[in-house]
Amino acid sequence: MTILEALNWATDYLRDHGIENPRLNGELLLARSIYLSREELYIRLHNQLEEGERKTLEGLIRRRVSGEPLQYILGHQEFWSFNLKVDPRVLIPRPETEHLVEEALLSLTKIPSKKIPSVLELGTGSGAIAISLAGEVKNIFLVATDLSGEALMVARENAQQAGLSHKIEFVRGDLLDPFHPGEAFDLILSNPPYLSDSEITDLSREVRDHEPIIALKGGTNGLEFYQRLISQLPSYLKKEGWILLEVGSHQASCVCQMIEVEGCFGKTERVKDLAGIERVVKAQRKS
Ligand SMILES: C[S@@+](CC[C@H](N)C(=O)[O-])C[C@H]1O[C@@H](n2cnc3c(N)ncnc32)[C@H](O)[C@@H]1O
Repeated sequence: MTILEALNWATDYLRDHGIENPRLNGELLLARSIYLSREELYIRLHNQLEEGERKTLEGLIRRRVSGEPLQYILGHQEFWSFNLKVDPRVLIPRPETEHLVEEALLSLTKIPSKKIPSVLELGTGSGAIAISLAGEVKNIFLVATDLSGEALMVARENAQQAGLSHKIEFVRGDLLDPFHPGEAFDLILSNPPYLSDSEITDLSREVRDHEPIIALKGGTNGLEFYQRLISQLPSYLKKEGWILLEVGSHQASCVCQMIEVEGCFGKTERVKDLAGIERVVKAQRKS
């Protein structure tokens, strides 16, 4: 079997089993099986596959068809300017979360430049958000937390791989529990678990059976994490400090209301993602 024949077989098999983007999946899984890049596949289309390589490809294709996400099979996901390690211990970072990074960078420009800003990310998972901020901002003090010790292991590895571990302190704990009231940050941000019980039931099997449930489940109505966090925020956020939260579709209004009811924040702002969904909610603490 040549590389071209293997590619056509893999694409057809994936398509017949309902996998989206079968050609791209086929290319990436074939490239992984024979230790070539996607580009190199096309230079060597007429090379023969060895028996072992064919078996490896079949194994990877079977995993994909059984619903395992492509990123877990390949072991990495691009986010911002980083190629992050991902495995079932962490949520696969989604492209829309890059809006949260963009907005955080914007908010950081509004913090007096004399200071090194202190930033707290809650629920860091693979470390995607904290690592992106550490990569962009020269002088920054970053703390990234997670309730999952396993997720933190992946995040630490990713920070080390990116050469940024000296800029991020990783802390295990439930929400703000690891910190003392009065230990205040300039900016707190999070992409928390925000799916409701009914949304969890309706998830695709790729997500439901493979991604960590702790990263998805936001309580009965999906808003539990926001409710707990926002009520505790005033003790942990400096005056004129920023809160930035990623929200699920249709959650922005509720989350804005929670922030407004707290009373110590200025006007809430909402930022839409590329699909037009209100994805980030942000507000500045009054002085
Ligand atoms: C939606 S994922 C976000 C992961 C990553 N920040 C990203 O954007 O790709 C939510 C993360 O919050 C963590 N988490 C869940 N409950 C938590 C809690 N009570 N305190 C801290 N982290 C929590 C999960 O383990 C998971 O890594």
